[in-house]
Amino acid sequence: MLIDSHAHLQDPLLLSEVEDILDRALKVGVQAIICPGYDLPSSRQAIKLAENYPSIWAAVGFHPENIANVDENSLTELKDMAQHPQVVAIGEIGLDYVNGVPDRERQKTIFRRQLKLAAELELPAIIHNRESHADLLATIQDIGPLPQGGVMHCFSGSSELAKECVKLGYYISYAGPVTFKNARRLPETVAYVPLDRLLCETDSPYLSPEPYRGKRNEPARVIHVAAKLAEILGRELEELAPILTANTKRLFHRLK
Ligand code: NI
Repeated sequence: MLIDSHAHLQDPLLLSEVEDILDRALKVGVQAIICPGYDLPSSRQAIKLAENYPSIWAAVGFHPENIANVDENSLTELKDMAQHPQVVAIGEIGLDYVNGVPDRERQKTIFRRQLKLAAELELPAIIHNRESHADLLATIQDIGPLPQGGVMHCFSGSSELAKECVKLGYYISYAGPVTFKNARRLPETVAYVPLDRLLCETDSPYLSPEPYRGKRNEPARVIHVAAKLAEILGRELEELAPILTANTKRLFHRLK
């Protein structure tokens, strides 16, 4: 049994097929799925999915690509949504320095506000980091450990970054890229993550693991990510899966 700790089931590529997707996930032992928002409408949709399907849990947050119109009203609305009993985290939030993504200072401001909201509501944070490693680490170090911790989702950094995040109480979650044939450094970072801080996810509909690279992703494929982690660690999947599941439930403590 496994949990997909990050899948955007509200994405138009997945939403219309969500029941088939849940069936396929359950068939391979994926018993729960965390569905993070990336703006207000997608966070609202995540909650709606969680209300309709007992295996889905929601997270709410503003992804750094979607902060252009964030103001005090929308942050208040986010806070209200986060009190919903099926919301297990604030996310996804973070920094994204790939070209075309809005102003970095503003990204940092909105990221900090949401980290503080996670702390205030005693929820874990789901953190996105793309080509922003140094500023991301500086921000989470400055804020300090969150009362309920958080996860570095779809981890793409170095062993050093993994170690620093672990020191601050964060879990490290791996997605499809750890399975890619040309991935060299990323698999090496897995050994630096304590076994009780390791998570797996799909980041559906993106980043399908091997052997489905390039195809639309879905939660059933989290098995391939977990199997790769087991292979890297020299363990059996049957031995690692319950550890990953226990870690996910410990972090997302509202998930039952
Ligand atoms: Ni995501």
